[in-house]
Amino acid sequence: MVDFEYGPMANSTWSVFNDHEHEKGCVRRVMKAKFSEFDSTQFSFHRDPVLVLEDFWSPQEQRMFQEAMERSAWTSLADLPAVSRAFPNCGNWEKAEIGRKEAGMLLHRLELPCIAEYIESFPVIKHRHINFNFYSYGVGDCLSTHDDTDEAYVSSQGPRPPLRRLALATYVHSAWQPDWGGELMLYDLKKQDEAQTLDVVDCIAPVPGTLAIFAVPRFHRVCRVDALAGEHKRLSIAGWFMTEH
Ligand SMILES: [Fe+2]
Repeated sequence: MVDFEYGPMANSTWSVFNDHEHEKGCVRRVMKAKFSEFDSTQFSFHRDPVLVLEDFWSPQEQRMFQEAMERSAWTSLADLPAVSRAFPNCGNWEKAEIGRKEAGMLLHRLELPCIAEYIESFPVIKHRHINFNFYSYGVGDCLSTHDDTDEAYVSSQGPRPPLRRLALATYVHSAWQPDWGGELMLYDLKKQDEAQTLDVVDCIAPVPGTLAIFAVPRFHRVCRVDALAGEHKRLSIAGWFMTEH
C-alpha cells in the first residue's frame, strides 16, 4: 500500500463552499471532458462533485501499468477479512500494492489545480495523505454500495484514520465492451422525512484510459463483471486523497 503524507498542495487556495450556487440550481453533478481539453483552473469539486476525464492515459501508459500489474503480488478479497465482512458476496477481486514508480506517475498526472484547491479548502489540516492501489476484477466480481466513509471496515480501536476527501478510479486494461459490466455507479442520497433513497447520478463505463474522481462521501458501487467478459480483467488504480485534522 502506498499511504504516505504530502505537504500543502501546489496551486492551493482557500475556497469556501458557496451555498448560493445550490440555491440557484447551478450545481452540475458530473463534468465529463477529454483530458487534453480539460481546463482544471475553471473546475471546482465544490460545484461539480463528479469529474470524468477521458483519455487520461495513452495506450502506451496503460500498457506500462499492465506490465507493473503483471509483476505485482496480488491479494484476493477472501484474504482481506475486514473488507470481506464489509463487502459480502462481491466475488473475489484482487488488490495489489502500487509500485513507487507508478504511484509517482499517477501523482504527477494528478497535479491539477482543481484537486489542490478542493483538498486545501478544508480547514486546519494537520497532514495530507494519499492511498492508491491496483485492483483486478474478473467475471463475477463487484463492489456493493458504500459511501467511502469507511466506518464499516476500519477498526473502532486506535486513532481515527484520515478523512477521505476525493475518491478516484482510473482504468488501465486495453479493452472493455459495454456487455462486460464493471460500471461505476454513482448516487445522490435523497432524504425525505425518515426515508432515504439513492438516485443514480451517473454510470461510468470502465473505458480504457478514463479517470473518474468524485468528492467523498458519495454512495457508489461497482457493477458485477459479466460472464461475457470471459478472461478479460477490469484493471484499475483506485484510492483517495485524504486529510488529517
Ligand atoms: Fe469506494
